[in-house]
Parts: sequence; structure tokens; C-alpha cells
Amino acid sequence: MKLLMNKGSPFSRKVRILARERGLAGRITEVIVKVSPVEVDTDLARSNPLTQIPVLLLDDGMALYDSSVICDYLESLGVGGDTLPTSGPARWSALRSQALCDGMLSAAVLCRYETAVRPAALRWDAWTDGQRRKIAGGLSELALQFEGWQDTFGRTQIGAVCVLGYLDFRFPEWAWRDEHPRLARWFSQISSRASVMETVPA
Ligand code: BEZ
Repeated sequence: MKLLMNKGSPFSRKVRILARERGLAGRITEVIVKVSPVEVDTDLARSNPLTQIPVLLLDDGMALYDSSVICDYLESLGVGGDTLPTSGPARWSALRSQALCDGMLSAAVLCRYETAVRPAALRWDAWTDGQRRKIAGGLSELALQFEGWQDTFGRTQIGAVCVLGYLDFRFPEWAWRDEHPRLARWFSQISSRASVMETVPA
């Protein structure tokens, strides 16, 4: 299998962490792809018309996206422990947390594009503030949820690592630790886990 990814992409990181946690990293070749919201990469578009990463290219030629679908696929290979509860309220809660983290990451990537890509004259502060409010609301929700995580490291926690790591990477001025010190302590502890260390954004 080939994973089209890049080391800055938080959605790629989600898949890369899960692959390592499931013992599948050795079966996946990571292929670095540059992405831009304004320049179309025709090679990537052939695999994913949305021209987004990550994309998992299976050995039979099928291309899978988005990150959650890829994670489900890797999970279906049945190697290693589950990162999602298989049934009941715990499953729905974990899927909801995954959606929460994905939404926060989408908002964060849009904010990043706003400063890194959009010409200054076309920026709209109220729009950016709206995206940042979504992230701030999600952080408060994660800070509540984290109290019940104990020693679990599943899909929810992988999502949280990707969100917090991306904020540190692209928004170092965002003092989220001041508001959520207990979540910050958890993040600091989990940052020494091998799958997390090996995928630090770059
Ligand atoms: C980033 O470097 O911020 C980035 C890279 C790929 C996709 C989204 C964001």
C-alpha cells in the first residue's frame, strides 16, 4: 500500500499514527505529496478529485480517502488492537469525537490557508474569527471529554493529538494550554509515545 501524505498535514498524521498503533506501518510506503488549495495537482486529482491528502493506494489500484475511511480500512485488516469500540454507545461517542476533531482540523487548515495562501487584500477577519471559534469550542469539549480517557489511546485520542499538534505547529501563538492545563498535561505525556513522536509535524 502507498499513502499519499505530507508531514504537515494533520489528517495524514491521523492515518500515520493509526498505522503505527496497529502495527501496519511496515506495509505502507509513505509518499510525500505537496498540496495547494489553488494549484491543481493532476496526479493527485486522478486518485482523489478533491485533491486532498491523505489518499491510500491499495495494491489492487483502488484509492481510498478521506482519513477516516482510510483508518476504517486499516482497522478492517484486523492487525493489532481496536482504536474504535466495535458497538454500543462507546462506538457512537468515539465516532462523534472523531467528527469533532476532524471539524477542528478542517477549521484550522482553513485558517492556515487564510494567512499562508490568501492575498492580504482578500482576507476577511470575521470569517477567520468564526473558524477560530469552532476550534476554541472544540478544545473546551475535548478538555471535558479527556477526563474520561484514562489510559486509552484510540481514535479519539489520536484525533486530539493531531489537533493539538497542529495548533502548536501552525499557530504557536495560540495559548490553548493556559485555558486547558489538564489537557495540556495529557498532551505532554502522550507526546513521548512512539507513534506520536515519529509523526511530529514538519
Ligand atoms: C500544512 O502544512 O499546514 C498542511 C499541509 C497539508 C494539508 C493541510 C495543511
